[in-house]
Amino acid sequence: MRGQLAKVEESVAFLRNKTEIQSQIGIVLGTGLGGLADRIQAAVVIPYEEIPHFPVSTVSSHLGHLIIGSLGGKKVMALQGRFHYYEGYDPKEITFPIRVMAAMGVKTLLISNAAGGLNLTFEAGDLVLIRDHINLTAHNPLRGENVDEWGPRFPDMTEPYSQELVELAERAAKDLGIKVHQGVYVGVTGPSMETAAETHFLRLIGADTVGMSTIPEVIVAVHAGLRVLGMSVVTNVNDPEDYQPAPIEQVIATAKGAEPRLVQLVEEILKRM
Ligand code: HPA
Repeated sequence: MRGQLAKVEESVAFLRNKTEIQSQIGIVLGTGLGGLADRIQAAVVIPYEEIPHFPVSTVSSHLGHLIIGSLGGKKVMALQGRFHYYEGYDPKEITFPIRVMAAMGVKTLLISNAAGGLNLTFEAGDLVLIRDHINLTAHNPLRGENVDEWGPRFPDMTEPYSQELVELAERAAKDLGIKVHQGVYVGVTGPSMETAAETHFLRLIGADTVGMSTIPEVIVAVHAGLRVLGMSVVTNVNDPEDYQPAPIEQVIATAKGAEPRLVQLVEEILKRM
């Protein structure tokens, strides 16, 4: 972990050399929010390969750029392209960019993903504000020696997703006429999709959506003391009584369809922050 600290510091030194902009808000552009990158008045766009120690994305639907600039009147640092456990990265690699953001002085994290709907009142294309999560990955990025400079050994998880930001997002969505739900996101590792029996189980334990990302990043963000707002695009609804395949093409197409709404909502949230 000490080695990790030195690596983060090297990445920060590299980025500080590129720009003097102090971003307050970090954004993870998951599936469904990639288009937000075009809205950022970018001061600097840096391919991940150039940043010391940054992992490089292997998923073709995810680009790999760090963008620093302005959006909604705020200075933001955005990750276009994220890392998943199923790609073979370990949770510390997945969360490395979050550590870098926190070390760069970011105070708030907006994070998005594509998720399967478990709550049958949700429809494909709906947006969900993440109210809480269930970590079902059996991994934790904080495993190992704690870096006290980063955060406490046993970080509190009473409010991993800022209730204040959820309420702000609710008001913004209402004013824009965009339908949003609130829900509990359960994180699994994938890449195999859930079976019908697993879907039944995930519903029983209180989850509204299921996905293969976000949890590690949020744990690290909370550890680092960041406020978090998480948002999901429901790309498919999984009813265990009428279980249907959710091919990746459909997942991506539905996420793309929802993207303009999510982008509009995020810009409005940023304006109000
Ligand atoms: N399950 C897991 N992850 C997902 C799904 C799903 O149904 N849809 C989008 N990401």
